[in-house]
Amino acid sequence: MSAPVLITGARPYGGEPTDLLLRDGVIAQIGQVADAPEGAEVIDAAGLVALPGFVDLHTHLREPGGEDAETIATGSEAAALGGFTCVFAMPNTDPVADSAVVVEHVWRRGREVGLVDVHPVGAVTVGLAGARLAELGTMAASPAGVRMFSDDGMCVHDPLIMRRALEYASALDVVIAQHAEDPRLTEGAQAHEGAVAARLGLTGWPATAEETIVARDCALAREAGAALHVCHVSSVHTVAVLRAAKAAGVRVSSEVTPHHLLLTDTLLTSYDPVNKVNPPLRTAVDTKAMRDALAEGVIDCVATDHAPHPAQVKDCEWAAARPGMLGLQTALSVLVHTMVEPGLLDWRGVARVLSERPAEIAGLADQGRPLEVGELATLTLVDPDAVWTVRGSELASLAANTPYEGMRLPARVVATVLRGRVTARDGKVRT
Ligand code: DOR
Ligand code: ZN
Repeated sequence: MSAPVLITGARPYGGEPTDLLLRDGVIAQIGQVADAPEGAEVIDAAGLVALPGFVDLHTHLREPGGEDAETIATGSEAAALGGFTCVFAMPNTDPVADSAVVVEHVWRRGREVGLVDVHPVGAVTVGLAGARLAELGTMAASPAGVRMFSDDGMCVHDPLIMRRALEYASALDVVIAQHAEDPRLTEGAQAHEGAVAARLGLTGWPATAEETIVARDCALAREAGAALHVCHVSSVHTVAVLRAAKAAGVRVSSEVTPHHLLLTDTLLTSYDPVNKVNPPLRTAVDTKAMRDALAEGVIDCVATDHAPHPAQVKDCEWAAARPGMLGLQTALSVLVHTMVEPGLLDWRGVARVLSERPAEIAGLADQGRPLEVGELATLTLVDPDAVWTVRGSELASLAANTPYEGMRLPARVVATVLRGRVTARDGKVRT
């Protein structure tokens, strides 16, 4: 068991300052603590906001097979430094996480590293090929206890396969997370289909490729009575579909990435492939729709889609560059910039979209819990007044493909605590 931790003067959910005593992995006391227990680590948290630890439903840790981009160890470091206590590792690895053997390997390695809870996402289809269902039940029953399945990077395009996957998901009480992109509509696509792509001569990725798959999948989820989660919503039109489906009682949830809250396709005029991502950066109409939908709860949560890539496949000509952006260490700051500063979310709202809702969507009982006595001591301390300049080379990830290079962003994670153990403090991880 780790030593007790005394946090003094923190503001839970941005409220009144108080002390929190963490002991034996749980929150033992909230309120003024006169003396620190013997051997306790004391964290002076005057001015800091305390939130439940962040949960990322969409992280690419790249291991196995992509260890030149990221490993479970380096990705876990980036996560802990970014305030996360739990990440869901996407299965587009090599080998693909489409079997009990691979998901168990990822889960075990995550436990060995021990900085965050690493939950493997299982593939929906064998090899992400979209043709044959993977053994969802075997992965769900493995020690990794897979709760979420996705072919992320690829869309489960065949409607019959998607229908069967949702039927299994309903029976197994797990979630299908769809990368909504009709591949027939995005053949050769390089950028959001619109004025900027037209001017640059880049083949367009129409927003309807997302909207139509989400509409179809909501109908299939309704029929199967299954839980559908829509990954990285990017278009104003998709929001309308989600709103209608939720109103009709479909079990659908969704996420938005920090980059789709902030960045637009006007950045593409630089031709810098750091801005290439899938789904693509869209327009200011879309970023505004993402912010409003997140504030309203039509989009449930924020997920990073942290997608590290080494320079040789990212820092090259636009058409050849891989899509994807780093996200774990900048997520909170981008959320504060886009949602808290304009008054669209308060700190309770931040807790909801970065911790409580993602934990609920994935069916986790040990994350996203309230900051209350007797609950697990899994929390994040944030300095709301900090301002920092993003430098890719200083991030913990092996890769450096951050689209925020040189940007000054508000708010910083000061400490992260997982079940009473400090995993990161003052920009350093504790292994
Ligand atoms: O930009 C992206 N990168 N979108 C995806 O769907 C996959 C991801 C990756 O794995 O790099
Ligand atoms: Zn995706």
